Amino acid sequence: MFSVARSHHASAEEVHRDLLEQARALLHGERDFTANAANLAALIFHALPDLNWAGFYWMKGGELVLGPFQGKPACVRIAIGKGVCGTAARDRKSIVVPDVDAFPGHIACDSASRSEVVVPVVAGGKVIGVLDLDSPLKGRFGDADARGLEALVEAFIAATDIEG
Ligand code: SME
Repeated sequence: MFSVARSHHASAEEVHRDLLEQARALLHGERDFTANAANLAALIFHALPDLNWAGFYWMKGGELVLGPFQGKPACVRIAIGKGVCGTAARDRKSIVVPDVDAFPGHIACDSASRSEVVVPVVAGGKVIGVLDLDSPLKGRFGDADARGLEALVEAFIAATDIEG
């Protein structure tokens, strides 16, 4: 038989449920840190609508250093406590920024970015980095996105041998 296309607009929860399933399949059978992070960044970038950047920063020598990502070249080093990424890493909590111009200290890597969500990557009780998504649309991200990305990061940590 054939499947009937969904007639309604998928909710953020539905989109993230699908994305988590795809991520688990993508990461299955491979534990390499860089390979899994790179593939996850690519999956997120292509699966979620209205993104201009998606990727990781890793904690190295007390600062965040650019990791695998999709999008335009970005700032390489971010101090802990600086920008959205450095704040999420310091406070160990996800941050949704509906309007980057209204976030004090936001670091503009791609001038197209209007909103952002950052989720800390925690392994063995330590913040080892952050996952950062940018959108050219104001208000692109909500709590459902933060929760969905947190689940994605957990799946990544469980599926991957952590380096560093
Ligand atoms: N806007 C981020 C910097 C990273 S880029 O958006 C890829 C921040 O304020 O931390």
